[in-house]
Amino acid sequence: MNNGAWKYDSDNPMTNGNGKHPSGVAILGDDEGHCLHGANGTSDVRHDSVETIRSGIGKPVARTPARGRTPVDDSHRKDGAWESGADFHWPEVASGSGPAATGAAAAPWDGDFRAYGSGRDALCALVAHGMATRGWRRLWMPTYYCQRVVAAVAATGIELTLYPDAPMDPGQGPEPEACRAGDVLLWVNTLGLRTRPELLAVASTGLERIEDHTHDPWAPLACRSWSDWCIASLRKTVPLPDGGILWSPRRRELPAAAPVTPERRAASLERMAAMSLKQVHRATGAIAVGTYQELAAAGEASLGAGGISGMTAWSEQLLAAWPIAAWREQRWRNFRRLAAALADIPGVQVAAGCYPPNLGAVTNGHRRERCAIPFGVPLLCRSAALAALIRRGLAAASVVADRLWPLDEPVLPAIPWAHRDFSRRMLLLYCDMRFQEEEMERVAGLVRRLCRIYRGAAETGS
Ligand SMILES: Cc1ncc(COP(=O)(O)O)c(C=O)c1O
Repeated sequence: MNNGAWKYDSDNPMTNGNGKHPSGVAILGDDEGHCLHGANGTSDVRHDSVETIRSGIGKPVARTPARGRTPVDDSHRKDGAWESGADFHWPEVASGSGPAATGAAAAPWDGDFRAYGSGRDALCALVAHGMATRGWRRLWMPTYYCQRVVAAVAATGIELTLYPDAPMDPGQGPEPEACRAGDVLLWVNTLGLRTRPELLAVASTGLERIEDHTHDPWAPLACRSWSDWCIASLRKTVPLPDGGILWSPRRRELPAAAPVTPERRAASLERMAAMSLKQVHRATGAIAVGTYQELAAAGEASLGAGGISGMTAWSEQLLAAWPIAAWREQRWRNFRRLAAALADIPGVQVAAGCYPPNLGAVTNGHRRERCAIPFGVPLLCRSAALAALIRRGLAAASVVADRLWPLDEPVLPAIPWAHRDFSRRMLLLYCDMRFQEEEMERVAGLVRRLCRIYRGAAETGS
């Protein structure tokens, strides 16, 4: 039984022989943070380098909860286990710490909305509706986007075309002369880094516009959107077993509500079971890693299967139960701490626009507010090899970093070289409400050590 010690598997430093990481963290996902496994052996990282990191890891930092801070689930710490990133486990919300006590987040979709099983469902339902009722024939999409979503939208039958837009290269949408009747535009608040001026730039195309607010659904940018429609996958920022949403700030017509399909109901239950079992694993070590990973992977795969589904009743109710405003604030504190701690590490750079002024305080009339809170800290590495080493070294220390998104085999080939290059060199470090600020220092410390190892290896030619 694993009783939760920091380094709780002393066998092969990277796998336990069946392709799974011994720590139980979903380190080897499909590059997008989904709880799968596999990428072992594809990286150029040497095991001895990784082992150096593993052996240097001590106990987790001691934490003193600050007064007035987000209630944090730290039950897993009873046995000293620690991890960063990975799939959500079931959060333990103490009584009296729900939104009524900690402050409710203003939901941008108050009023009329449609709740779906996933973000892809929300987008595909809207695209199908637009094709049927608004004459949509072609969708402009950003070049830097989740390819799983592109593939799902392509299956609706709409023609797809791209405009340049990437995390550090915000686009202005297509040239007006390139647009034609039947075009519609998708704008994405990529990684939660976008600001109002960037949104304004794209709005000038005059096309009907859909916005994807997955990476910060409760952002002022979403709440004050004047877009035709907005969608978000809610399960990416909040521990929900399923959930996507569609609303129309301009009160455009929405598709008819979709029932929950049997496949998605089962998928949601599998994911919920995986989240609960993972929580028990963290607290006691009594649940084997493979048990919840297998369920999580099966549930994730099934969430993409079958027709469009509505959101399960339990996910809708959980949405009202979670302290989302407090969780967002925790993410912001963690983001700032991690971004600052990474700032001076040779070989890597925090790729978050002109952070902090861009993100920290944006004026809206006389009020100062944040446009969005980033999804995580995007780290741009000097080379793809360094990114691979960092990813693998962090994984050995139970820290998940993901490539959001791999563009090596895009659905549409016309991706600018610079965007593919960014995708190869970037890693997203998670900083959500599961973590405290001190833990962010720890993650940055690991990155610093890995960069040092990489430099040392480069100098000695090993
Ligand atoms: C920005 C963005 N939009 C939409 C989606 C689709 O969400 P879902 O996986 O719930 O379909 C994702 C998923 O990765 C995403 O990252």
